[in-house]
Amino acid sequence: MKDRFGREIDYIRVSVTDRCNFRCIYCMPEKGIAPKSSEDILRFEEIARFLKAIAPLGVSKVRITGGEPLVRKGIVDFVAMVRHIPEIQDIALTTNGSLLAELAADLKRAGLDRVNVSLDSLNPEKFRRMTRGGNLKSVIKGIEAALEHGLVPVKVNCVVIKGFNDDEVADFVKLAIDYPLTVRFIELMPIGESVREGMELVPQDHIARILGLKLEPVKYPEKGAGPAVYYKIPGGKGYVGFIAPITRHFCAYCNRIRLTSDGKLKVCLASEEEIDIKAPLRGGASVEELQRIFVNALMKKPEGHRMNVVPFRKTKRTMCQIGG
Ligand code: 5AD
Ligand code: SF4
Repeated sequence: MKDRFGREIDYIRVSVTDRCNFRCIYCMPEKGIAPKSSEDILRFEEIARFLKAIAPLGVSKVRITGGEPLVRKGIVDFVAMVRHIPEIQDIALTTNGSLLAELAADLKRAGLDRVNVSLDSLNPEKFRRMTRGGNLKSVIKGIEAALEHGLVPVKVNCVVIKGFNDDEVADFVKLAIDYPLTVRFIELMPIGESVREGMELVPQDHIARILGLKLEPVKYPEKGAGPAVYYKIPGGKGYVGFIAPITRHFCAYCNRIRLTSDGKLKVCLASEEEIDIKAPLRGGASVEELQRIFVNALMKKPEGHRMNVVPFRKTKRTMCQIGG
C-alpha cells in the first residue's frame, strides 16, 4: 500500500501496553502514567484480527512495543498468533530487556524473529538513575539471552542526552566491537517527558565527532534497516548505526504506521491524528471494513514531522503510550 506521497507502508508498530517496569527520565513521569483500564486495552485476539485483515494489503512487518511489552501477560501467545498470519514475514519486539532473560527462549519458540533492546547507560549507577530504579545486570543478561536464542540481529538502542550519557558513546561502540550487536544512537525527540524536563539531544554529527571515527556508511546486511544509517567498525563484530529524526529529515523514507494499546491508529509519531479501530473491532466490523479504515488512515499520513521546526510542544501522549 502506498500513501499520498508514494511511500510504501509495509510496517506496523503495535503497542500492547502503556505500562512499564522502568521509569526512564525522558519517557515516563516519575509516578508513572494513569494506566488504561483493561477494558480500554485491545485484547490480543482483537489485535491479531486486525493484523490478519490488513496483512494482505502489504503489511509484512510487525514490531511489538509498549510501554514494556514483556510485562503484559500472554505476550508469548500473542507472538504465536501473529506468526500464524502468513503475510507477516518479520516479527520484532522492542523491550527494555529486563525480562528478556526469562522469556527469550519462549519468544523464539513462539516465532519471534528478533529484538531491539533499549539501553541508555552502561554504568550501573547511572543506569539506575536514568531508568529510576532499573538493574543494568538484568538487561545485559537479557541481551545475552537474545543472542543465545537467536533473536537476531539484536539491536541496542541508545538515546543520547546531553550531560547524561554523551560521555558513554565510546563505551557503546566498544559493545559493538566486542559483541555481534548493532548499537544505534538515537536523537532525543521532543515528545512527552523530554519536553517537560528540558533535556537536550546530541546531534548525530556531534557523536560521530566525539567518536573520532572515520565512518563509512555500509548497506546493512540484515532485514529491517528503516531510517537508520549503519557503519561497520573495522575489526568489530557488530555495527554502529544512527537514527537522526531531528538533524536528518528522514520522513521521505517512512514506511510505518502505529497502533496504540487502546486501539488507535497513529499515522505519524509526531501527529495528534488518531483513528479508532477499537469500536469497529468490537462492533463486529468485517475484514473489508477494517481494511477500508486502514487505507483511509494511510491517506491521512502527513508528508513529515516538524519537530525540528517547532521543537517544543506538549503532546497528548508520552512515548510510553506510543511505543517509540
Ligand atoms: N526520543 C527518542 N527516543 C525515545 N524513546 C522514548 N522516548 C524517546 C524520545 N523522546 C525510545 C526508547 C526506546 C524506544 C521505544 O523509544 O528509548 O528505545
Ligand atoms: Fe519503560 Fe521504555 Fe519508557 Fe524506559 S523508555 S520508561 S523502559 S517504556
